[in-house]
Amino acid sequence: MTDFERWRAVDEYICELFVGPDPALDGALEASEAAGLPAIHVTANLGKLLQLLCRMIGARRVLEVGTLGAYSTIWLARALPPGGEVITLEIDPHHARVARANLERAGVSDRVTLLEGAALDSLAALVTEDTEPFDVVFIDADKPTNAAYFGFALRLTRPGGVIVVDNVVRQGNVVDPASTDPRVLGTRQLNEAMAAEPRVSVTEIQMVGAKGYDGFAVALVLGP
Ligand code: SAH
Ligand code: DHB
Ligand code: MG
Repeated sequence: MTDFERWRAVDEYICELFVGPDPALDGALEASEAAGLPAIHVTANLGKLLQLLCRMIGARRVLEVGTLGAYSTIWLARALPPGGEVITLEIDPHHARVARANLERAGVSDRVTLLEGAALDSLAALVTEDTEPFDVVFIDADKPTNAAYFGFALRLTRPGGVIVVDNVVRQGNVVDPASTDPRVLGTRQLNEAMAAEPRVSVTEIQMVGAKGYDGFAVALVLGP
């Protein structure tokens, strides 16, 4: 068994115990695969962690940057009380179409607003509209833009809210200061921005699993 096979087997073991089969989530992945979307959605155990984080802080409003086929969106939407809302941002019209169908099938489209277009434009519009603050923001789109997404997330999140960023370890490449990969550079910019920001308290967890070796950041928003 290779290391990767073992990581995947342990993720399967964990998900069998704590997630189980779920027609809406499993169906979303099947439909996404059939539509040719890349299989870069969060693992089920990370999806469940996002859902638990929302429930732990009683989240009512959630913002997601990067929808893909709405797999993570379904996890987030199910965390919400009646009247809650997820706003999710997606640039690719094909992904958005698949996501809308998956959300419909999962029975959560009444709680989800998918804004199609470049996330930076939608985020700027949310700021201009003075949208009600979010309790949780999940950043999981194009990695080179992560520092800018974090800046918007900070403006849009209430004190006591939580910002989670996916893919901050990148096979460990994040510690290579000579990297010229724009995704690694974007991640390092994000990390420096978070570390220098007094309005958040942040940690990052590196992890292995069915998607290989990566990690995520969790930031608690402290004050205005
Ligand atoms: N959160 C999803 C995975 C998202 S993958 C899940 O776990 O299920 C990243 C997504 O971000 C892709 O669908 C990609 O099209 C989208 N994306 C990339 N650049 C973007 C941009 N500038 N604005 C909005 N979405 C973007
Ligand atoms: C990629 C993007 C992701 O959000 C992810 O979780 C894994 C991989 C990618 O673009 O390769
Ligand atoms: Mg990701």
